[in-house]
Amino acid sequence: MEITVYTRKNCKLCQEAISKIKNLNIQFDFDLILIDIDNLGNAKGEYLDKIPLIYINGQEVFRYHLDDRKLLQILMNKPLNPRTRIIEKRYSRFAPFYDLSEFIVEEIYFKKWREKILGNLKGVKILEVGAGTGKNFPYYPADKEVTAIDISLPMLRRAENRIRSSKAVINLAIMDAENLALPDNSFDAIITTYVFCSVPDPVRGLKELKRVCRPDGKIYLLEHVLSTKLFMKTFMNWLNPLTVSLFGYNINRRTVDNIKKAGLTIIEEKNLRSDIFKFIIAKP
Ligand SMILES: C[S@@+](CC[C@H](N)C(=O)[O-])C[C@H]1O[C@@H](n2cnc3c(N)ncnc32)[C@H](O)[C@@H]1O
Repeated sequence: MEITVYTRKNCKLCQEAISKIKNLNIQFDFDLILIDIDNLGNAKGEYLDKIPLIYINGQEVFRYHLDDRKLLQILMNKPLNPRTRIIEKRYSRFAPFYDLSEFIVEEIYFKKWREKILGNLKGVKILEVGAGTGKNFPYYPADKEVTAIDISLPMLRRAENRIRSSKAVINLAIMDAENLALPDNSFDAIITTYVFCSVPDPVRGLKELKRVCRPDGKIYLLEHVLSTKLFMKTFMNWLNPLTVSLFGYNINRRTVDNIKKAGLTIIEEKNLRSDIFKFIIAKP
């Protein structure tokens, strides 16, 4: 299929990008790629290597500077389903306040949980789903190659700033957990932290994790779920419509059941705080 590439004129980096795309020799489902490379106008050649990855049809296409939402939708190759679009908008609106809103719980609990879980990840090729503002990045050991995806561009822009704080190699891509543009059996480990409270169809998303995880790989989930205690459960169900409409996340998800419904096998389940914050390890 003919690929038309629009770029700025006489831009060396654009020419590099074009030849990279053409040399890939992949069957694209679309015939137009827009490259808005304005922000790279004054950049040096080696900058190209520091730009996050974008995947199309499961293939690395170009280290791309995260820029224009429309462009990324074209690259994602599929429009988001309306329910995911709503969640994306909520997180994009919430992105500037996200870190601040969690500051206290992050300091008291989340940090130490992240440190422990990420320090014990097995394998080299890691997929992080719903990376948000990149809060996990500082805790990856140096031997990891992480592909970190999220649906919200403003969240990923913040994550970009945290790449420097990581010892691991981190590549970012905008992608929907329910529709991962990644090949089957391609990751040694998958990590999600507080994500399946937000993905509109969690079972579908978890099935995607199962698909891209190697048969001998592991899926690590740090999630908050609906309490089983009557008073707390009633309160969480009552409050849920507010958290969804303001921030995009549910506080009454039954994630353990969803993991089973997706056909994954749970090998470890641990309550970290009450029966609400859970750490789960599953396998395909
Ligand atoms: C509560 S935040 C958690 C962010 C991060 N993992 C952390 O631990 O701070 C949930 C994240 O999931 C992302 N998300 C929601 N639905 C998604 C989907 N369908 N695909 C990919 N990411 C999604 C949101 O954009 C948001 O960044």
